[in-house]
Amino acid sequence: MTHVLEALKLRDVVLRHRIAMPAMCQYSARDGMPSDWHLVHYGTRAVGGFALINLEATAVAPEGRITPYDLGLWHDGQVAPLARIAQLIRAQGAVAGVQLAHAGRKGGIAAGWEAQRSLTADEGGWTTCAPSALAYGEGYASPTALMADEIAAIVGQFVAAARRACAAGFQTVEIHAAHGYLLHQFLSPLANQRNDAYGGSFENRTRLVREVVAAVRAEWPERLPLLVRISATDWVDGGWCVEESVELCRILKTLGVDLIDVSSGGLIPTATMPVGPGFQTGFAERIRREAGIPTATVGLITTPAQADHIVRTGQADLVMIGREALRNPYWPMQAVQALGGIGEWPRQYLRAAPLGTVSRQLIQEKA
Ligand SMILES: Cc1cc2nc3c(=O)[nH]c(=O)nc-3n(C[C@H](O)[C@H](O)[C@H](O)COP(=O)(O)O)c2cc1C
Repeated sequence: MTHVLEALKLRDVVLRHRIAMPAMCQYSARDGMPSDWHLVHYGTRAVGGFALINLEATAVAPEGRITPYDLGLWHDGQVAPLARIAQLIRAQGAVAGVQLAHAGRKGGIAAGWEAQRSLTADEGGWTTCAPSALAYGEGYASPTALMADEIAAIVGQFVAAARRACAAGFQTVEIHAAHGYLLHQFLSPLANQRNDAYGGSFENRTRLVREVVAAVRAEWPERLPLLVRISATDWVDGGWCVEESVELCRILKTLGVDLIDVSSGGLIPTATMPVGPGFQTGFAERIRREAGIPTATVGLITTPAQADHIVRTGQADLVMIGREALRNPYWPMQAVQALGGIGEWPRQYLRAAPLGTVSRQLIQEKA
């Protein structure tokens, strides 16, 4: 029976176990460039034993940022500072990943710890774009509906960002098609009311996601895995639903996607979600079984036993630990120990390793 401490191989990349950190915005970048905060934040989680660290939503264009403080990969100057972070992550034996994103109508807002509203141009905001000119909700400005040539340009922006991610030494790329951001806006009939080739039928609403995935896959090295994060449901009648998610994931598999990171919600601010421990694991399980593709699950997974149970019962191949990783960067190291595994302690910390745990030591020299 597969368990959470077992390695996971995706193409040529091996995750040392199945505990990963999902993308979590830090709102600490300037002009898309990472700060010292990012180096310390991600470096600490790599030391803490995560198998995969997904860098936060990293914008493929300036206007694709959620806030003015998001990371970006829209120009070559952003490669070197991100390469430093990727190198630090890899040096700790973790896999370095990055989430590529375009916020669409949810862009141009204040940092996550402030009231969520569109910023004015004076405050650093911008005019947002979307499939249709429909605002996300109260406090959010109306976006402009994208023209066909602008949609094609966005596909190119994802491809260029993936090329830069590779140059920066990232080993996985995750395309952000969840949480109500641009690609999800195209998927959902509640945000997409176009009547051209990108709106209406399932085939049309999924077209942009399929185009981005196919184009990124063609750019992203064959030996490296490609991930896609989706919201399995909008949690609203008449919205994007789990049946459509399963169907989309079947197609994404044929396009060379290696793992679906299954989340939910984010498209409609008033949607009610039955939030509780593991409340999204059922979606990951269903997509894994019905679409026949590896999945990651995320959402209120906080104990080692819970993470192990998810993998042992075949609900997901990978478990993402979000806010718990913000509370405790050493969660994976402690989980490995709690589940009776062999921890990878950095040599600098070996004298603090609990008795009975054995270090695979000197992992820094492998990277
Ligand atoms: C501070 C913060 C920032 C986040 N930023 C992102 C992001 O950039 N991309 C994304 O897909 N999800 C983002 N999320 C969602 C998390 O990846 C995760 O799905 C969510 O927190 C649920 O998992 P948890 O209960 O383990 O925290 C963010 C969550 C938090 C708390």
